[in-house]
Amino acid sequence: MKCLIFLCLVVLATAKIININDCEGIVVDGVSHTKETLKEYVERPYQLAMDYNNNVLYFSYSRKSRDIFALGNINLNTKEFDTVTGVNGGFANAVDEKTHSVYFGGSDGIYKLNFESKKATNLAVTDENVWQLFFKDGLYFTTYPDEQVYLYKDNQVTKVTEIGNTTAMLVGVNNGHNIFFSNSSGLFYYNKRDAKTTHVGDYILNGITSDINGRIYFCTPSGIFVVDDKTNEVKKLATIINIYGIAIESDGSILYSSENSIIRLKSTGKVCVSELDTKPDN
Ligand SMILES: *[C@@H]1O[C@H](CO)[C@@H](O)[C@H](O)[C@H]1NC(C)=O
Ligand SMILES: *[C@@H]1O[C@H](CO)[C@@H](O)[C@H](O)[C@H]1NC(C)=O
Repeated sequence: MKCLIFLCLVVLATAKIININDCEGIVVDGVSHTKETLKEYVERPYQLAMDYNNNVLYFSYSRKSRDIFALGNINLNTKEFDTVTGVNGGFANAVDEKTHSVYFGGSDGIYKLNFESKKATNLAVTDENVWQLFFKDGLYFTTYPDEQVYLYKDNQVTKVTEIGNTTAMLVGVNNGHNIFFSNSSGLFYYNKRDAKTTHVGDYILNGITSDINGRIYFCTPSGIFVVDDKTNEVKKLATIINIYGIAIESDGSILYSSENSIIRLKSTGKVCVSELDTKPDN
């Protein structure tokens, strides 16, 4: 802790503090950032997921005809773009860092990547149409159009019944194994300890992710938010219009997708004096 405080002091002491009006680029948590485009001409990239072992970003995107989903990835070391084949209607991505497994959700179940062939094969554990995947000591997934939450763990698929008979489009699980889920009514939080669900806010999510330390981040079409691991307080990090998805690199840098590109936010180290509101604005 002492070390952390010391680091903060050093960062503050070396950072240049400038007025918000003079801040170039995008302000993330009070610090000015520049945009680095990692990939252009990729339509509607959704559901970004980091593979921290290989430093690769996985995502889904739309092929020219907007109805066909495809799976792409970028090697963040070389910035090379690649695709994954074999998944019917591949839309969702998640990575288990411990076993180093990359999973995809398609229109007929859950697939696992073969790194050598760059092909994914259906695990044949469910034939549900998978909307989203989230890995936390097990593979959580939501289905479409039923909007139900399931968990694939120890070779079994079970319905996540704790959160009640509710609908959920996106699900995220924190370090305490408490469950965030969103539906068209907003963002909800299921606390395992007291088995209670609370309404976090009227956020309409289009992406939810965790960083390398398990902290939960989410995005709405117009902003990026982080959830405090202890207090569950939601903090708005940045206002950006037209966000489709987010992921957090191992050094904490934000990656996000817009309508047709994938962008990295790079810190300039300049602290801007600003007041960000934390209200949902979608
Ligand atoms: C769950 O909700 C649906 C629709 O709201 C309802 O039809 C169904 O009976 C409910 N199931 C249970 C087990 O309560
Ligand atoms: C969203 O989830 C909450 C909490 O379970 C539930 O009360 C609400 O009815 C759900 N909204 C919709 C549109 O299903």
